[in-house]
Amino acid sequence: MKSEWVSPSNIALVKYWGKHGNQLPSNASLSMTLKNSVTRTIVRVLDSKIQAKTQFFFEGRPAPDFESKIESFLSRIIPFFPALKNHSLVIESWNTFPHSAGIASSASAMSALALCFSSVSGETEQGGADASSGDFYRRASEIARLGSGSASRSVYGGFSVWGKTSFVAGSSDEWAVPLDFTVNPVFSEMQDSVLIVSSAKKKISSTAGHHLMNAHPYAEQRYRLAEKNMGLILNALKTGNVADFVRVTENEALGLHSLMMSSDPGFMLLEPGTLQIINKIRDYREKSGAFICFTIDAGPNVHLLYPASEKKNIKDFITRELMEYCEEGRVLWDEMGNGPIQIA
Ligand code: PMV
Repeated sequence: MKSEWVSPSNIALVKYWGKHGNQLPSNASLSMTLKNSVTRTIVRVLDSKIQAKTQFFFEGRPAPDFESKIESFLSRIIPFFPALKNHSLVIESWNTFPHSAGIASSASAMSALALCFSSVSGETEQGGADASSGDFYRRASEIARLGSGSASRSVYGGFSVWGKTSFVAGSSDEWAVPLDFTVNPVFSEMQDSVLIVSSAKKKISSTAGHHLMNAHPYAEQRYRLAEKNMGLILNALKTGNVADFVRVTENEALGLHSLMMSSDPGFMLLEPGTLQIINKIRDYREKSGAFICFTIDAGPNVHLLYPASEKKNIKDFITRELMEYCEEGRVLWDEMGNGPIQIA
């Protein structure tokens, strides 16, 4: 049996930072699914248990470095797929984007894996849903969450919300949900150009970062602010309020990094080039009045967000004023996408 999916990464606008229990978030988060930054994964389920360990190939080569991460993910999800226990697995994956480029590879990788396992289990187990049903994606999201929290949001296109929030009916800490309203057309073709300030390996893992929130002096205020920002950004997406969208998105990005700096031990992931880029974006917005803003994940690279109508101007702006702060002038051009695709 074989299952194959292409699943995208996503970029959070309201950030998830802090978790408890079995990968449950301390606040709800909202993200935009990307289009070009994807992982393609094939899972092959062999007839019987002919090999002790799961074999994993990344970009065509055996990848023993990833094996422990995959084994620990498998041990967490096997209760969902008891029938798989008696089979050997061969997993192959490819990414369209470079490692450490400010694109969350765990979001695309873990969601692709979760989708593959969910399809395989639909075929092997009673009660397994097929990929045309909403239940299928909800279950895939829950499984993806066990690999990486942010991956739970990648099983849907457009914008999705993970974590219980009073603003979204049916939202849950256990899986992500798509938005239950039509987004205002000003946000329908959002672009994301990722300015790669540095591709050096992260100084701290996100697991360690989430953990530091447990004793963080600002934790409670942070979770309250995240909920307030969730309400504001959902309303902005509904009504087309660009000013609020920009305000919340940038506040969340800088808020995330403020939490990192003020944890104990504190850490700094922003680079001088990141700050130069932020200041230039804000100057450009003030002077041109254009809809453009930034967000940043747990690293130094800047995601520049703008609508398709600004493409030409922003490309010129990036080339003229921002590229000099990027490592070897590197920029990844992405945009909002429609979500994962199953390969027949
Ligand atoms: O999914 P994780 O455990 O890699 O954490 C992701 C954390 C952030 O990317 C910083 C924020 C988010 O919501 O994606």
